Amino acid sequence: MEITKATYLLSSPSFNKCPDPDRAEFAFIGRSNVGKSSLINMLCNNTSLAKTSASPGKTQMINHFDIVSRSKKVKEPFKWYLVDLPGYGYAKVSQSSRRMWEQMIEGYLRKRENLVSVFVLVDARHEPQKKDLEFMQQLGDWEIPFAVIFTKSDKEKPGVVKRNVEAMATLMREHWQFLPPFFVTSSTKKGGKQDVLDYLEQCLTTEPED
Ligand code: GTP
Ligand code: MG
Repeated sequence: MEITKATYLLSSPSFNKCPDPDRAEFAFIGRSNVGKSSLINMLCNNTSLAKTSASPGKTQMINHFDIVSRSKKVKEPFKWYLVDLPGYGYAKVSQSSRRMWEQMIEGYLRKRENLVSVFVLVDARHEPQKKDLEFMQQLGDWEIPFAVIFTKSDKEKPGVVKRNVEAMATLMREHWQFLPPFFVTSSTKKGGKQDVLDYLEQCLTTEPED
């Protein structure tokens, strides 16, 4: 699958201000500065679509992008929403704004009826982080499907990345019977792009169960 059109639609402070839930939606979340906006730009072939920044905390609202994608297997193009969410775990954030973030994210994740899957981004350079594991556990408790995307793989030796990915799988097996899909990516080198797009295509072409 390939994304043929991606345009910014709107930023919402809460789930009930989001656009009508009339199409499939996928959200990207992870620690502040992990590379969410960069990954979205890589997938959409547009370096300036989602705003990126070297300083954490750039993304603060629920940001919707209108997506059109095409697959070789299906004649009609797919129309769906891609969502860039603000990151968690930024140390310099006050208690009150952290609580606001939690409320906004929980409301969005639990009440957004067209949300098909969440992508949890983790930095491929580091060993599994408690914050990321806790967030995934929370998604599990809320029964929200997710996949894990390891970012910035170009910044570390392949052996180290592999070790970090395996360590995450080992830790997750302690709590989960089935592991979610894992993707190793680099936004600067475009690594893992096709795998993520193929997974999105698979989600878009699979009929919902109920
Ligand atoms: P917030 O919105 O602030 O939470 O950050 P974010 O998760 O959207 O991260 P963003 O995409 O803004 O990237 C943060 C920094 O990491 C920027 O300086 C990016 O250029 C850099 N970066 C992101 N992805 C990659 C990558 O795959 N490789 C390398 N080398 N740098 C990356
Ligand atoms: Mg961002």
